[in-house]
Amino acid sequence: MAERGEAIVLIGFMGTGKSATAAELCLRTGLPIFDIDAMVAAKLKSPITRIFETLGEEAFRDEETSALGSIPRVRSVVVTGGGCVLRSANVELMRQLGTIVWLQADEETIFRRTAERNDRPLLRSDNPRERIAKLLAAREDLYRDAAEISIDTRTRTPRDVADAVLAELPRLAATQSVGYSP
Ligand code: S3P
Repeated sequence: MAERGEAIVLIGFMGTGKSATAAELCLRTGLPIFDIDAMVAAKLKSPITRIFETLGEEAFRDEETSALGSIPRVRSVVVTGGGCVLRSANVELMRQLGTIVWLQADEETIFRRTAERNDRPLLRSDNPRERIAKLLAAREDLYRDAAEISIDTRTRTPRDVADAVLAELPRLAATQSVGYSP
């Protein structure tokens, strides 16, 4: 297998604070951010909601995989979309990039946080709470299986989450031969 990269790869459901945590990690470490959603939107020159409407979810997933595969093997923070773990090939690409960190939250917290915005096509439903519950149930094991580090974000601010990530990385590196070194 190819040598592991040194990226911090953030995974987790919508509303778990991946982007905000990446911004905090960037402030602390100076690492560049690769945000898959932003890369897809920039490539197709279209917001994610519109990509779902015009091309459909499968086409979006293909673009997601292609964006993930295009990220250079450099020290960075990679922000994945909540559905990136649905394809095992994506998880393999994430592993090659670096250490996979799962930002966790429960249904209630996710519902509260995601209710503030309307730009998530999968939650545009008459009953977003039910949708969250179903998607979460279908995905939780995928996040758990992919992750090397899990951080509970329920009562933490993005700044606290970033601190927790940076505290966990050296601990993991000490027990395994993962790439990240502070
Ligand atoms: C999705 C999550 C979104 C975005 C798209 C699909 C998902 O990203 O990729 O709307 O399937 O969970 P965030 O997790 O950043 O909201």
